[in-house]
Amino acid sequence: MAKLSVNICGITFPNPVMPAAGPTSKDGAMCQAAARGGAGGIVTKTISVKPAEVPRPCMAEIKGGFLNTELWSELPKEQWLENEYRMVKETGLPVIVSLGYTADQISELAQLVKPYADALELSTHYVGNDISPIVDALKAAKSAVDVPVFMKMSPHPNIQDIAKAVEDAGADGLVMINSFGPCMGIDIETGLPLMGSREGYGWLSGAAVRSLAVRCVYDAAGVVRIPIFGVGGVTSGRDVAELFMAGASAVQVCTAGILKGPGVYGKIVKELEEFLDSHGYADVSEIKGLAHRKMARRAFRTTAVVPVVDNDRCNLCGLCEISCSYDAISRSGQLVIDAGKCFGCGLCVTRCQRKALTLDGGES
Ligand SMILES: Cc1cc2nc3c(=O)[nH]c(=O)nc-3n(C[C@H](O)[C@H](O)[C@H](O)COP(=O)(O)O)c2cc1C
Repeated sequence: MAKLSVNICGITFPNPVMPAAGPTSKDGAMCQAAARGGAGGIVTKTISVKPAEVPRPCMAEIKGGFLNTELWSELPKEQWLENEYRMVKETGLPVIVSLGYTADQISELAQLVKPYADALELSTHYVGNDISPIVDALKAAKSAVDVPVFMKMSPHPNIQDIAKAVEDAGADGLVMINSFGPCMGIDIETGLPLMGSREGYGWLSGAAVRSLAVRCVYDAAGVVRIPIFGVGGVTSGRDVAELFMAGASAVQVCTAGILKGPGVYGKIVKELEEFLDSHGYADVSEIKGLAHRKMARRAFRTTAVVPVVDNDRCNLCGLCEISCSYDAISRSGQLVIDAGKCFGCGLCVTRCQRKALTLDGGES
């Protein structure tokens, strides 16, 4: 069985899957449930100097994703310090304490949470896209604590610049990404926005943001050497593998934990293990950054690579044929791809549920 434990900045996580800061770590009881559900570490809900006044409604499941307008913890910091963090510590798992937002607030909070934190995570969500307030918050944390400080990135447009700047300023790791937005959803029965925020805006998470998270992790991993926690749309072990291949050293899960409950962490870990075993990987770290190594060898093409059909796997369901805009696929007893018509777009390969089509191109 593949090795799943990871060591990040001297902290050993028994497996690389843990709840992200959010409702699934909103208090000590939820963190304990995450531990029972199979998480390999805990990231506590972001706290700030004052409790958040959260507009309601603040969460909605939408097609393919999730909207929220939660802020930071609605619990006062005193409650976290007197009760919740102690309960989180009882899990025995590594505890990453999430704090927000400005340098002054971080200075105050970092001192207070010291006894409970194996590491700090600083949210940049309400700090904007400018580098200097983000770096100032990091410096405030670094001068208050000795434990590693990880910077949680929103999907900033200038993600590589910020990632490099915080590494240069002493960050011990990156966490990416926070939810994306602002976005909006409207209940068409009432005409009202789904979110109760003043503008009706919400922030997108879940499966809809996974490709954005993969791209951000991939881009950041290309310019920094510090470890990265991948976050965004993880629902399965295969999603974890994808973020690792982009360059992540561990992953965090929020929306899937909300929608599926705390047992989801153990399920994802089991699926990851199955994926690694079935592909001959002995250690999850073997797939870390794989996409970077593959891309270095990949030829850029503007000519078609025609998919190869495995007719033993194909059950002639027709999913590929119906969505082939080039009319290159037909079924007559077996699946046939007309190489003259095939554009090599690759869609059929990704649609096939039975992995009967492959698009190798000779680079694997
Ligand atoms: C309801 C909700 C509340 C969240 N609260 C926080 C928070 O307090 N601090 C933070 O850094 N991120 C917060 N997030 C962002 C998540 O930690 C995560 O970065 C984002 O949702 C993407 O991951 P996912 O697709 O697995 O949810 C929240 C997300 C949701 C959906």
